[in-house]
Formats: sequence, structure tokens, C-alpha cells
Amino acid sequence: MSDASAPDALRLFLDAGLAALSAALHEHDAPLRTLDVATTGPDGAARQRNVVLRGFDRTTLRLRFHSDRRAAKIVEMRRDPRASLLGWDAGRRLQLRLSGDASLHLDDELADAAWNETKEAERRTYGWSEVPGHVLAAPTPFPAAIDAARHNFCAVVVQLRELELLELGRDTHRRARFRFKDEDPARPVEARWLIP
Ligand SMILES: Cc1cc2nc3c(=O)[nH]c(=O)nc-3n(C[C@H](O)[C@H](O)[C@H](O)COP(=O)(O)O)c2cc1C
Repeated sequence: MSDASAPDALRLFLDAGLAALSAALHEHDAPLRTLDVATTGPDGAARQRNVVLRGFDRTTLRLRFHSDRRAAKIVEMRRDPRASLLGWDAGRRLQLRLSGDASLHLDDELADAAWNETKEAERRTYGWSEVPGHVLAAPTPFPAAIDAARHNFCAVVVQLRELELLELGRDTHRRARFRFKDEDPARPVEARWLIP
């Protein structure tokens, strides 16, 4: 179904999903501020972890989160950039399943701009001299020095290609899938209702 023939209800549903994601950027405790990101591990099995949503532009369908460039997830996305993200907004009774291609930004303008947005508390998480996942004798406070932290910092941008929404209403459940080929969310190349 082309966008031109997409019924209003489908468009409104897509708008609601995108709005929920946008709102999460500005509400510290919004449920969609934390998303579960899945990648493919070295053994081919799925690996998941939570990340904080740091950016979302509904006009380009790009979302951003931050990590340590040495983290397993970054190594995995370097090998296979396909990423799947999952969120559940209990207030809206809405599940979002998102997928797209990740690009890693280490030393470019985007990474600089993202770094400039970060607060001290986040910066300190990138200051370890050893890689994330390295064995410790005991839990250790974050390192104070932040010089190395910028070097370790990585902004991950996911260009969304598919968005699936599931709303658990009282009387009915609504599930729809939207696929995008270009970067214009106003023009999904496919918009369909699905059996939940
Ligand atoms: C609520 C929450 C938010 C998190 N946010 C991030 C994040 O934004 N970036 C990140 O790299 N790790 C974040 N983490 C830690 C990851 O979930 C994960 O444990 C860690 O990054 C190691 O993942 P990896 O070995 O797959 O790279 C968060 C964890 C929780 C519980």
C-alpha cells in the first residue's frame, strides 16, 4: 500500500508512534527514553541491552544513542549494522519495534555535537582505561579523568527502515507495520494493519 492510499487511521497511528518517541526525548522518566537494542553477536545469536534515547528526528527517521566505542555492541554493529530496537510505553499501551541500519560516529562533527550535549555523569562512564566487560576484582567507582572519555565516546545513529506498532487497547489490539525506503517518514512505502 503506497502512502498516497494509506488510510487516515494508519497515518494517525504512525504519527502517534513517532510522537511518543519524540516526547521521550524531553521527559526524563518517559518509558521510551530507554530502548532495548538487539544486535547479532559473534556466534550469530541475538544480543540485547538497554540504551538511553539521546536523539530522534521524526523528519529523517534517525535516532541516536551513545556508547563506548570499545563496547561489544559497537563491535557487533561494526560487523553487522542492522539493529533492532524495542520499547514499551505502558501509559499509551504501545509497543514500538524499530529496525534500521546503524552508523557509528567517533571523530566527526556529529560525534562532537553529541559529546557537547553530554553531561559530566555520562562522560565519566567512558573514562575507563580497560574495555567495557573487562573483569574487575570488585565494583569500582567511575574514573574521574575525562580526557580519554571523548576518545572512547561513540554516537550511534540508526536510520529506521521499519517501524511496527502494537497498541493493546481494551476492546481491541491494533498492530501496524510501516516500511520506509527513503528518509521521509511522511512517505512510508508500505503501511499495513496486521493481525496482532
Ligand atoms: C536503563 C539503562 C540504560 C542504559 N543506557 C546505556 C546507554 O545509553 N549506552 C550504553 O552503552 N549502555 C547503556 N546501558 C548499559 C547497557 O545496557 C549494557 O549493559 C552495556 O552497555 C554493555 O552492553 P554490551 O556489552 O552489549 O555493549 C544502560 C543500561 C540500563 C539498565
